[in-house]
Amino acid sequence: MTPSPTAATPLEVLLEPDALRDALAHDATEGLGSRPYTLPPKYFYDERGSALFEDITRLPEYYPTRAERNLLVEHAAAVVATSQADVLLELGSGSSEKTSLLLDAFGDGLRAYVPVDVSPTALQGAVDELAVERPGLSVLGVVADFERHLPDLPRPGRRLVAFLGGTIGNLDRAQRAGFLATLQASLAPGETVLLGVDLVKDPERLVAAYDDAAGVTAEFNLNVLRVLARELDADLDPADFEHVALWDPDDERIEMRLRARRSLTGRLAALGLEVELEEGEEIRTEISSKFRREGIEAELTAQGLDPAGWWTDGDYALVLAVRQ
Ligand code: AVJ
Repeated sequence: MTPSPTAATPLEVLLEPDALRDALAHDATEGLGSRPYTLPPKYFYDERGSALFEDITRLPEYYPTRAERNLLVEHAAAVVATSQADVLLELGSGSSEKTSLLLDAFGDGLRAYVPVDVSPTALQGAVDELAVERPGLSVLGVVADFERHLPDLPRPGRRLVAFLGGTIGNLDRAQRAGFLATLQASLAPGETVLLGVDLVKDPERLVAAYDDAAGVTAEFNLNVLRVLARELDADLDPADFEHVALWDPDDERIEMRLRARRSLTGRLAALGLEVELEEGEEIRTEISSKFRREGIEAELTAQGLDPAGWWTDGDYALVLAVRQ
């Protein structure tokens, strides 16, 4: 029987529906239970947060998305040829057009596309759209968390694992080592990984990219307080906080923080947790690491991933590495 194009394609679910909320409860207990306060960036992306991020990608100051797209337009064919892959697996696939640039580059040589995302809604939308636009393509959507499920992902052929958008920058050096080690161990020899990485550059441009004039990034940052309110019955009021983006020259990363405009006590009722902030005290909500070629290549090599390609416009780079 031919499936009707509107029938929802089933997803493989490795991440249970409540797991994200449980992880948030755990991470908020850790991050807000003692000073300095921190929250992991992965909780920005509820429906409103994802829409705000889409807006960010179109801001004049936020160059990485455009840079990556242009690099893919120019070099996707070389990436795919070098990889010798016949499967594209995309971590954090969301719903984007960078995917189609890579899919086109594979041409007829593609056996399957495996989009992996934590959000079942975003994934279902993408998978159903592909069923209509590329009816011949085998698409295996997987709901999974790239920090937990790398070893369990499907292997329908020789994979190119794409991890784009600069998301690896959300991890600090130790977290990257762990992630790359697990990724390496999950790949077969000869399989490849493609990273999109933002590069170290003039701090003024970097800070502007995370503190735009229209205030969209500020709204995106403050949105995590709405997520806490909804998911954990918290009462931290966005109006009591100010968006901060700063460049850390030692770790070569942007940090986003939420700074208390007055001294206050927040309650996370679902956790039975109280958080005290002095006026001016901050919650770190994101790190966005910036890279140099020698640095990221050394990190890859250290985990058994051999650098095999480097494409850049000077601001942003695509890095390809082969599992030994
Ligand atoms: C999606 C994690 C790559 O770090 O640039 C954009 C998220 N944060 N503006 C980044 C983000 C603030 C973005 N990543």
